[in-house]
Amino acid sequence: MELVVDPLILRQRLSEIRRQGKSIGFVPTMGFLHEGHLSLIRAAKEQNDFVVVSIFVNPLQFGQNEDYEDYPRDLENDSRLAEAAGCDLIFSPEAQVFYPPGYATFVEVEGSISEGLCGAARPGHFRGVTTVLAKLFNLVSPDNTYFGQKDAQQCLVVKKMLQDLNYAINLHIMPTVREADGVAMSSRNKYLNPGQRAVAPVLYQSLQQAEALIRAGERDAAALKAAMRSRISAVPETVVDYIEIVDTQMLRPLERLTGSCLLALAVRLGGTRLIDNIIVNVEGQ
Ligand code: PAF
Repeated sequence: MELVVDPLILRQRLSEIRRQGKSIGFVPTMGFLHEGHLSLIRAAKEQNDFVVVSIFVNPLQFGQNEDYEDYPRDLENDSRLAEAAGCDLIFSPEAQVFYPPGYATFVEVEGSISEGLCGAARPGHFRGVTTVLAKLFNLVSPDNTYFGQKDAQQCLVVKKMLQDLNYAINLHIMPTVREADGVAMSSRNKYLNPGQRAVAPVLYQSLQQAEALIRAGERDAAALKAAMRSRISAVPETVVDYIEIVDTQMLRPLERLTGSCLLALAVRLGGTRLIDNIIVNVEGQ
């Protein structure tokens, strides 16, 4: 497996790969890889001749009081894990090289897809995500790219950007990978102390409880959100950032559930902000 830090060398290396007629699968990450990332790398390996993984903690997608400096980094361990999962090349540039002094170009998806949920709670976050991805997609020019459903809103924002900017890249959204107790895998789980980790399953439990209520006939979004909130708020140290039920196309809040619905939440546990979601299809029920 190769490690490339220079964008120009990445371009040269990948144009050789394309000249050999090989397909390229791309998994963008911020590193500190876990099973969720590895499932994306494995899927990329199955479907492509050559797999590129980017490891870059993107300063543009962190707010001023967020965890950019503290975000966990471990390139050595990541390299080992990525290689074992089937990665052929890691691209891990320095921030000052990726965004040199005077950098001034940004890509933004406007409207309800990026403005609600995490977009409302983290202004500028998705602009940072789409800007880094536009650059990475231009450099890697993959046939296929792989994202996790855990970041449901990010997936939709990326889908819209790919459509609107005419990228010829197939987007693959892979299922959320969970710990045995239901906690969605995330690099930020590392911040949880043992007590916080022990109660973290309440996020997924509240989503499952809402799904059970929907299956039993509940269609009122306010009632479902209230049930989720009261379950989560019963756990000490939790602060609900948002609990929303939105349509899965435009992410507009629903009053009554119909069609494909995204139940999404963000909760702070101590200082750590965790997100999770499920999609429930209520058609024909
Ligand atoms: O999901 C992430 O880890 C990041 O948002 C991404 C897609 C790698 C962009 O920095």
